Order: sequence, then structure tokens, then C-alpha cells
Amino acid sequence: MKILVTGGAGFIGSAVVRRAIADGHAVVNLDALTYAACLDNVASVAEAPGYAFEHADIRDRVALDRVFARHQPDAVMHLAAETHVDRSIDGPGAFVETNVNGTFHLLEAARAHWQSRGRPEGFRFHHVSTDEVFGSLGATGHFTEDTPYDPRSPYSASKAASDHLVRAWGATYGLPVVVSNCSNNYGPYHFPEKLIPVVILNALAGRPIPVYGDGSNVRDWLYVEDHAEALLTVLQRGAVGRSYAIGGGNERSNLDLVRTICAILDDRRPRTAGPHADLITFVSDRPGHDARYAIDATRIRDDLGWRPSVTLDQGLARTVDWYLDNAKWWQALLDRDGVGRRLGAGA
Ligand code: NAD
Ligand code: TYD
Repeated sequence: MKILVTGGAGFIGSAVVRRAIADGHAVVNLDALTYAACLDNVASVAEAPGYAFEHADIRDRVALDRVFARHQPDAVMHLAAETHVDRSIDGPGAFVETNVNGTFHLLEAARAHWQSRGRPEGFRFHHVSTDEVFGSLGATGHFTEDTPYDPRSPYSASKAASDHLVRAWGATYGLPVVVSNCSNNYGPYHFPEKLIPVVILNALAGRPIPVYGDGSNVRDWLYVEDHAEALLTVLQRGAVGRSYAIGGGNERSNLDLVRTICAILDDRRPRTAGPHADLITFVSDRPGHDARYAIDATRIRDDLGWRPSVTLDQGLARTVDWYLDNAKWWQALLDRDGVGRRLGAGA
């Protein structure tokens, strides 16, 4: 297949691009190269014969039409988005513009392309979304594909809106769409302002490790390369019009997760001043902080045969080792605007 991947210079998109090329697909990586992007994430495939990069913005319909006409993709995997909840609290406008308006323009460009090719049944528009659209769970229960939408942050509200647009384009125009909603990802190339890299890099620097509120919020973590494999599975074998909840079955409170990472670092890089966990510092909570996310991944497991390949402990150890081995990658990103500053506390 020739797959147009949007957001392929970001964290998950780049894992999808690397995996798709390794699987023998041709890939057109379309990315606006915002603060969150890094072309080094795809350096390992940049010279592959099936790879092309297009510097374009999904809000720019003219540019999108040009990319579709030039490359004639068989499928779209749509990952381009503004993604950081904390940034969405400080500046929601960019989230509405990219996640809602940008998805609208991409749907229209994809529809025009699909119609111009005679509406092929095998075409796919795969919209990559988040479990955060379902809101916040209490102590029990899991999100499924049938959970009612209840987004509570500007980020999740903008992703929910984009999910609705995608389903509407499927129902109204017959565009062959598929949607996936995944839990929190972690792993190599995770941008250094998200929780897990923040913990690793602050611990290595001997700086305070900021834990929001009391650290009791629970997330369900999935290794990014397992997510990339799930996404390619959904693209190729998912049923048109269906959605798939994707998760690792790895629930952990933030405080437990941070302590686990500190323990791995104690092993890899012992600190003379004491255990890394001594650096944990409770800071003011995120406004509207969702208490718990957890995914019931029965459908993708039973219908498509996908399951994660690594446990959380294995994945965290790999991730810590990757950051220890790739200081050049993250050092270059630490100078970017906002990185290292407390974001999202000002509401
Ligand atoms: P990221 O922030 O690391 O990467 C986003 C990429 O999109 C960047 O390369 C950026 O340059 C690009 N982009 C942003 N605005 C653009 C625009 N207007 N036009 C073109 N490109 C643009 O994000 P990520 O964590 O890799 O997430 C990718 C997708 O997966 C998002 O849609 C996100 O909602 C979804 N998702 C993320 C997670 C997670 O834990 N990170 C979990 C579930 C779903
Ligand atoms: P984040 O990586 O921003 O993902 P999301 O909010 O989309 O789940 O944060 C993960 C969790 O970690 C979330 O509950 C907020 C919390 N957090 C901290 O406690 N400290 C931090 O410095 C950051 C960035 C997040």
C-alpha cells in the first residue's frame, strides 16, 4: 500500500512510519513540523526507496490537494494533531484549528481524491484518536468502543470533535473510515515535555520531578511500537465504519509509575546523593485533571488478533535505556519553546 501518514515526524506517527516502511509499504509523511516534530525520528527510513516527506499543514487545503494529486495514496493514517493537554489549557485555539479544522480539510481532500479515483472500496481513512474523548473514569470500569463521549479538556474536546467529523464523512459520503482510540503511549522519541521523559530527564539532571496533585491519577500505558503495530493492523484488517479501542492493560498511578522509573534509574545510574525517588516533588494539580483512564481492548484482540508484545516493566526499562543512549536527540529538543517550563497551570 501507499500510505499517507499525517504527523509522521511526531512521536507515534514516526513509529508508524518506521514500522510501515519495515513492513514493505510506501509512505508519504506529511507534517507541518511544529514544535513537537523532529525529523531525526524518521532518519532511519529517510533514504528508503518507498519514503517521501511533504512539509505541509493539514489546515491548508491547497497544499493537501497537491499532495494527494502528486502521490495518489491508497490510504490515509491521520495522526497530525496538537496533543499536549497542558498546552491545550494554556492555548486552546491551536487545538481547535488543527484538530478540528485541519481534520475537516483533510477529510475533504481525501474525499475529493477518493471520488476522483472512482470511490475504491479498498481506500481507507484511518483516524487516530485518543481514549481521552471518553472522559474520566472512577475507581472501576473500562472504556470500550461504546462508551459515551465526555471530553473534559480542550485537547480531548477537539479530538472528540474530529472523531465525530470522521464518522459523519463515513455515514454521509461513504468515505471508508475507521477510527481508533488509544490509551497513553510511551517509548523512544517521546517529546521531552510529556510525563515519562520529564521524569527521566529531571532525575538524570538531579532536578525536582514534578508530580501533579497527589499522584493518584491513573493512566493505562502502551509501548509506542505496540501501538504502531495495532494501527497498521486496524488499517489493513479493521472493518469500515468501526472503531477500535487500543490499550496495554497496564494501569498505573502516576506516583507508582514515577517510582518505577526512579528505581530503574537507581539501577542504571546510581545517584550518590540518594535514591532518585527523593527528587519527587508534588506540585499544584492540572485544572480538570482526569482521574483515571483504562481500556477494554477485547474487540481488537478478538476480532483482529492484536495484543501488546511487551509488559510495562519491560517497556519502561527499554525506554529508560533509550533515553540514556540518545542524549543528543533529547538535548536538541530541550531548547524548544515551553520545554522544561510548567505548562497548563494558569487556568
Ligand atoms: P506529537 O505531538 O508527538 O506529534 C504530532 C505531529 O503532528 C507533529 O509532528 C506535528 O508537527 C504534526 N502536526 C501538528 N499540527 C499539524 C498540522 N496543522 N499540520 C500537519 N502536521 C501537524 O503527537 P503524538 O503523541 O505522536 O500523537 C499522534 C496522534 O495520536 C495524535 O492524533 C494524538 O491525538 C493521538 N494519540 C496520542 C496518544 C499519546 O499518548 N501520545 C495516545 C492516543 C492517541
Ligand atoms: P501527559 O503525559 O501530559 O499525558 P495525559 O495528560 O494526556 O494523560 O501526563 C500523563 C499524566 O502525568 C497526567 O495524569 C498528568 C501527569 N503529569 C505529572 O504528574 N507531571 C508532569 O510533569 C506531567 C507532564 C504530567
